[in-house]
Amino acid sequence: MQTKWLSYEDEAAVAEAAELLQNGELVAFATETVYGLGADAMNESAVKKIFEAKGRPSDNPLIVHIYDQSQLEALVQEVSFDAKRLMDAFWPGPLTIILPKKKNVPDATTGGLSTVAVRMPDHPAAQAILRASNVPVAAPSANLSGKPSPTTARDVFEDMNGRIPMLIDGGDCEVGVESTVVDMTRTPAMILRPGGVTREMMEAVIGPVEVHEAVLAPLASDAQAASPGMKYKHYAPKAHVRIITGDRAAERICRLYDAAKKEGISTIIFSVCEEKELFGDRDFYAWGDLEDVASVAHHLFSSLRMADEKGYDQVLCHSVDTEGVGLAVMNRLVRAAGFDIEQA
Ligand code: TXA
Ligand code: MG
Repeated sequence: MQTKWLSYEDEAAVAEAAELLQNGELVAFATETVYGLGADAMNESAVKKIFEAKGRPSDNPLIVHIYDQSQLEALVQEVSFDAKRLMDAFWPGPLTIILPKKKNVPDATTGGLSTVAVRMPDHPAAQAILRASNVPVAAPSANLSGKPSPTTARDVFEDMNGRIPMLIDGGDCEVGVESTVVDMTRTPAMILRPGGVTREMMEAVIGPVEVHEAVLAPLASDAQAASPGMKYKHYAPKAHVRIITGDRAAERICRLYDAAKKEGISTIIFSVCEEKELFGDRDFYAWGDLEDVASVAHHLFSSLRMADEKGYDQVLCHSVDTEGVGLAVMNRLVRAAGFDIEQA
């Protein structure tokens, strides 16, 4: 199968994408967070193709994407008062809300759970194909399972060429990490996966919000995963990723770098551009600005993919603060690092 790679600004392409979705085929498309790999959420055999194309475990549920709140009627049993307030405040945007599902949502979409995750994306490419197809679209990130999520059409093409009929290009993803996932079937609400809509932002609208303990730590082996995605290895490049934190992190990174070099282990350092000088002429990549952690989120997955493309064996990352979107950055990074964090 040849994958057609077309722009969302091409009206004929959007019409063709919509038709593919309506016919139970897969279409990858840009959202403001990461690229998604979409199928008609109500069509079980279409949804199964997503798991095949990604090589994804079938008990890991998908997010259902909509363009209008009226589509909720077919998907969820009820929208609580607080869930509605979150929708009104943050949709369209990088927030996924978990609600009790209606029976007609297939088990393939929800991994057999009694709940469904719903999101309204804020990107004209996603909105155009959702509107044109007029079906709720189940879409995980459009990467091969286990690889870093794709934030450019080129990333998607690299993973999915030949596996899907169409890719709708909408440029680079602004947010760069996947949406916040919040469980609204319990009180207080609980963040299962941090993202672009932060705890602080949600608390300003609905009051106290909890953050699941597995957000920055490995899931205890006997714990029941609140979100099945928590238990899978994620976001991992081929290179060995290590995180160094603490006041003396830069010094420690230099020492680790130099020791690795002696052993012939090719290494790159990721930190904010303000720290470039600290690392001298060592291989360094500025993944964002100190005062703007959203810029680190924006570059996170593309930096990890770049390290693999350039064939580095090891990536030494200087941690970021976990405030605001920093929590989403560290959530992805600790997983990429297999929880290898060192305090310096
Ligand atoms: O930004 C995003 O959310 C992107 C774009 C494409 O919209 N999508 C995305 O999907 O990241 P995916 O499949 O890679 O991640 C979905 C996460 C998984 O961790 C999954 O376990 C969790 O959401 N999830 C989905 N439905 C759930 C449910 N009913 N209960 C608990 N967790 C759920
Ligand atoms: Mg994913």
